[in-house]
Amino acid sequence: MGRIHILSDLVANQIAAGEVVDRPASVVKELLENAIDAGATRIRIEVEGGGRKLIRIMDNGSGMVRDDALLAFERHATSKVKTSSDLLTIASLGFRGEALPSIASISRLEMSTRAEADAAGTIVEIVGGKMHRVGEAGIPQGTMIAVRDLFFNTPARRKFLKSETTELAHVTALVTNYALAHPDKHFELHSATHALLIAPPVAELSERVYQIFGKETLVHLLPIAAEINLSHIGLPEPPPWKRDGDYVKPDPGHLRLRGFISKPELQKLNRNSMYSFVNQRLVRERVIIHAITDAYRNILPPTSFPVVLLFLEMPPGEVDVNVHPAKTEVRFRQPSLVHDFVRDSVRTKLIFARPAMSFGAALETNPLATPSLGAQIHSPPPSALAAEEASQADSDAGPVSEGAASFTLEPPQLPPVAVRLDFSPAETAAAPLETSAMDDDTATLKTLGTLKALGQLKESFILATNEEGLWIIDQHVAHERVLFEKVLRERKVESIQRQRLLMPMLIELTPAQMICFAQISTELDRNGFEAEPFGPRTLAIKAAPIGLEGRELERMLVEVLEQTEREEQSENLDAMRTRVAASIACHSAIKVNTPLDPARMEWLLAELAKTEHPTSCPHGRPIVLRYSWKEIQKAFHRI
Ligand SMILES: Nc1ncnc2c1ncn2[C@@H]1O[C@H](COP(=O)(O)OP(=O)(O)OP(=O)(O)O)[C@@H](O)[C@H]1O
Ligand SMILES: [Mg+2]
Repeated sequence: MGRIHILSDLVANQIAAGEVVDRPASVVKELLENAIDAGATRIRIEVEGGGRKLIRIMDNGSGMVRDDALLAFERHATSKVKTSSDLLTIASLGFRGEALPSIASISRLEMSTRAEADAAGTIVEIVGGKMHRVGEAGIPQGTMIAVRDLFFNTPARRKFLKSETTELAHVTALVTNYALAHPDKHFELHSATHALLIAPPVAELSERVYQIFGKETLVHLLPIAAEINLSHIGLPEPPPWKRDGDYVKPDPGHLRLRGFISKPELQKLNRNSMYSFVNQRLVRERVIIHAITDAYRNILPPTSFPVVLLFLEMPPGEVDVNVHPAKTEVRFRQPSLVHDFVRDSVRTKLIFARPAMSFGAALETNPLATPSLGAQIHSPPPSALAAEEASQADSDAGPVSEGAASFTLEPPQLPPVAVRLDFSPAETAAAPLETSAMDDDTATLKTLGTLKALGQLKESFILATNEEGLWIIDQHVAHERVLFEKVLRERKVESIQRQRLLMPMLIELTPAQMICFAQISTELDRNGFEAEPFGPRTLAIKAAPIGLEGRELERMLVEVLEQTEREEQSENLDAMRTRVAASIACHSAIKVNTPLDPARMEWLLAELAKTEHPTSCPHGRPIVLRYSWKEIQKAFHRI
C-alpha cells in the first residue's frame, strides 16, 4: 500500500493560508484588493484587537450573486482569469483564486453580499473552513466580510503574532498605502476606539497626500511625472512562420511614472516611507528600491531614506505578477529599462529642483532627520554631483567637510605622504599605533579630566591638550554622551525635570505614528513629556524635559516615533528606554557650528570626563580623537 495521498481541501487551504496570510494585515490586504477589483468606490474597514479579534470590511462594489458567493470559497475559484494566456496580462489585483478559501480555513468568517441583479443578498458563514450557514437577507449592493478570531485553529501561527498595537500599525500602514494608490475612492479605517483614517475621494494625488500625511510633508515633496515609449514589448513575439496573415505587431506601449519624491531635506530613518505601486498594485520591488536609492546617492546620507510615492504604469504584459503568493513582488520583463527609467526620472527631478544650499542651511532645513545624520548632508550645485560621486568617502567626514576631508595633520610645505598622520579614535588608539606609554585605554581616558581647552575648530570641535598630547573633541556628541547618561540616571529614580510649554505644541502625525505613540507614551511620560492625542492625527505636547524645546522637541518626537515604527519585533523595555534617552540627549545637546566660550568648553570637558563611556556617543560615533606627543614628535622626526 502506497504512502502518498491527496491532502484534504481543508489542509490544502491552510497550507495556502500559510503563504498568503501571515498576519492580520495580510487579510486586510486580500479583502481590500477584492473590494477594489469589484469596482468599489467606498471601502470601510474596522478592526478589533489589532485584527486578531475582528476584521470587517464593507464595500459598495459589484457584490456576488448567490452561486458565486458559495463558489468564491472553493479553492482555485476566481472570476479574474480563465486561460493561462490571461496570466500574461493580468489587470486585476487578485487572480489566484485562493485568498477567500485560505482566510476562511483559519478563522470564523461571515460574508453578506448582493449583486445588482439579485433581489436579496446572500449570507455565508464558515468556521475553520467548514460551511455553517447559508442564508438570505435584504442588504444593499456590495459585500461585507467579517473575519473573527484569526488563527483560532492554528495556534502555531497565532504565536508569531506581535502585540495588538504592532499588528494594528501594520494594518494602518497597509490601508494608508491603498488609500494613496486610489485617491478617487473613499477609505475609512476604524479601530474599536478610534477613527484611524478617513479619506474621502479627491481629484488629485496631492490632495490625498495632504489628507494622509498633512501639509508639513507635502511642502517637502516634489511632484514627478515622466513617460517613455517602449521600443519593443517584453514578451517574446511568435516567430514569423507561426504568425497568421492578419498578425499585427503589438504596440509596445509606454512606461509612465508619476507621484512624489522628497526634497533632500526631508529624511526618514527607515524605508517605511518609500511606496511603490506597479499598475496600482503595492509592491516591494528590489529593482525600484535600488533605482530610488541610486537616484538619491550622494544627495542623502547612506543611513537616511527619502519619502517616495511612485506609481508606475505599464502594459500588463510588461510585468509578471504571478511570482509571489502574497503578490507583493513582481518581475519586470525589461528590468533594467524600468530601473534606469525610474532612476533617471527621479534624479533629473532632484537636480532641477535643488537649490544650491549652503551646508548650514541644509542643516537648518532638515526637520525630520537626526542632526547626526543631517550633519552629513551636502548640497553642491548640480554640476558638482559627478565629482561628489567620485569622492563619497569624503562626504562622511562631517559638518566641516571642506577642510576636514581626512583627519591628518600636514604641514603645508611638505608633501602629504611624508608626514601623513591619522588621528584615531581614542578607544582604539592602543591597537595598531605606536606603543606609547599612554596606550592603555583606561589610563588614557582617566587623563580626560586634565584636559585644558585651547579653543574651537570651526565652532564645532574643541581643541584641548594635556600631558598626553593634543585632543579634538566633537562638542555635539560629547554633550550628547553627557546628557544621555544623565537622562538614564534621572529616569531610573524618576527625577527628570519637566518644563511646561507656554502653549501646547501641536505635531501632525501619520495614522501609523499615532499608534506608535500609544506604544511609547508611558515611557515618554517617565522621561518628562506630557503629550496626548489632540484629534485623530495630531499630538499635543504640553510639557517636555528641560533643555528640549522648539523644533528640536518636534524632531526628537518624530524620530522616536519613526524608530518605533521601524521596530519589527516587539522591543524589550530596556532597549526602548535607551533609545528614547539617546534621542532626548541628541536633540538637547549643543549643536555643531555653535560658538562656545572657554568656561563652557571647560565645563563640557569636565562633564565628559565624569561619564562612564566618554569615547563614543550613544549612536556609536567617536567623541574624542587623540594625537599623542609621541606621534607628534615622531612626525617632526624628533624621535
Ligand atoms: N468584495 C468582493 N466583491 C465582489 N466579488 C468578490 C469580492 N471578494 C471576492 N469576490 C469574488 O470572489 C472570487 C474569489 O476571491 P479570492 O480573493 O479568493 O480570489 P481572487 O481575488 O480571484 O484571487 P486571489 O487569490 O489572487 O485574491 C473573486 O474572483 C471575485 O469574483
Ligand atoms: Mg482576491
